[in-house]
Amino acid sequence: MAVEKIVIGRDREDIKKYGAEGTAFIGKHIVGKGEEAHLTNPIHMDVIRPHVVLVAGKRGTGKSYSAGVIAEEIAMLPKEIRENLSVIMIDTMGIYWSMKTPNEKDRELLKKWGLKPKGLPIRLYVPKGWVKEYEKVGVKVDGSFTLACSELTAMDWIMTFGFSMLDPHGIAIERAIKQVKTRFGTDYGIQDIIKQVEEDKRTEKAVKDALVNRFSAAEDWGLFERKGTTVKELVEPGIITVIDVSHYMRVSAGWSVRSMIVGLLARKVFQERLMARKAEEFEVMAGERRKTIPMVWLMMDEAHQFVGTEPTAATEPLLTLIKEGREPGISVLMITQRPGKLHEDALAQADLIISHRLTAEADIRALRSIMQTYMLEDIQDLMNALPRLKGAALVLDDNSERIYTLQVRPRFSWHAGGSPAAIKPKGLFG
Ligand SMILES: Nc1ncnc2c1ncn2[C@@H]1O[C@H](COP(=O)(O)OP(=O)(O)O)[C@@H](O)[C@H]1O
Ligand SMILES: [Mg+2]
Repeated sequence: MAVEKIVIGRDREDIKKYGAEGTAFIGKHIVGKGEEAHLTNPIHMDVIRPHVVLVAGKRGTGKSYSAGVIAEEIAMLPKEIRENLSVIMIDTMGIYWSMKTPNEKDRELLKKWGLKPKGLPIRLYVPKGWVKEYEKVGVKVDGSFTLACSELTAMDWIMTFGFSMLDPHGIAIERAIKQVKTRFGTDYGIQDIIKQVEEDKRTEKAVKDALVNRFSAAEDWGLFERKGTTVKELVEPGIITVIDVSHYMRVSAGWSVRSMIVGLLARKVFQERLMARKAEEFEVMAGERRKTIPMVWLMMDEAHQFVGTEPTAATEPLLTLIKEGREPGISVLMITQRPGKLHEDALAQADLIISHRLTAEADIRALRSIMQTYMLEDIQDLMNALPRLKGAALVLDDNSERIYTLQVRPRFSWHAGGSPAAIKPKGLFG
């Protein structure tokens, strides 16, 4: 007899209509505590509707791994569903490229679950200026991306450089951007901005020098061009596109560069999907098919760095997706080890939470704040009762107003996120 599936993230009407079709098999329900704990019903998560998902947990508890499971499931849906979806994974740590490789290291574990290792046809995109670096270490890159200078607002630059609108630096940036736009329209590069700053008679020398320094440093990010990569290029139906921004770990303004990329990407995805919705409506009305981008799942690690308590160039664009992404069909999946540091609106909008073990009081309080309305048990007690296994998590489902204890399934594809050990494991092929 088939064991009944638990479907989360889906309302009653959709369950009636679709059953468990178009869901992600993320793991199994854990029943019982401690020694007695065992795995029972499969847990399936809706992925065909837009969601705001939070994946939380302390370092090393399985967050990145769990997000990878959800991405895998989307990429392995039946073709007619998969075609209408896409995944953009903002990879802050540079770990998701390995998804092309089958997870041989967990073959035995997968077998216990009745599964087999399998590599996925992901596409790895890296900043244009860094393609060679990846290839040098033997990572095959599928494409590179750039940002169009003209798509960045004065505010984007100001925030990325850590200035404010009101200080002389901010004012000078605003003036320079306005001028290059008047002179060149959308066709300008960093050198044009630098020239503009240098020619500005109203700005004092020290400020100019500082700005020229910043813009020159930005040129070394290997990112900016006159024409940027379009969302259409980055999004492919049924495919996971990994946008690797990990390189900026080594740059001093690392997080602000990454925020700039994420912010711009979020804005473009939103605009593109708004257009796509219109075309989709048109298709339903007139039966005429237009080429549009599929619904998007935007996933990001270290989400509190982008939509945290401190504003970044990514904060507003991401909050727009989080608050208004439902209509254009955009899902946002935020991974964080510090839910307590997430922007309160981002936290409040999450309708699905997968939380691995957390211990900091502020983080537990953050989860409690979202779910208190229907929760009888306390998060802390539930957290304490979680088996001490990698991938064990609580699932808080706002749609069914229920909480489950979950063991996330093993990955089909290779996970590169484990912490290194000084004792090397025996190689796979030797
Ligand atoms: N569901 C799971 N099943 C089996 N092993 C897991 C699972 N989740 C995590 N792990 C193991 O735990 C390690 C750390 O997980 P990871 O997701 O990288 O942690 P973090 O929470 O820091 O992102 C992984 O490399 C993997 O070996
Ligand atoms: Mg991680």
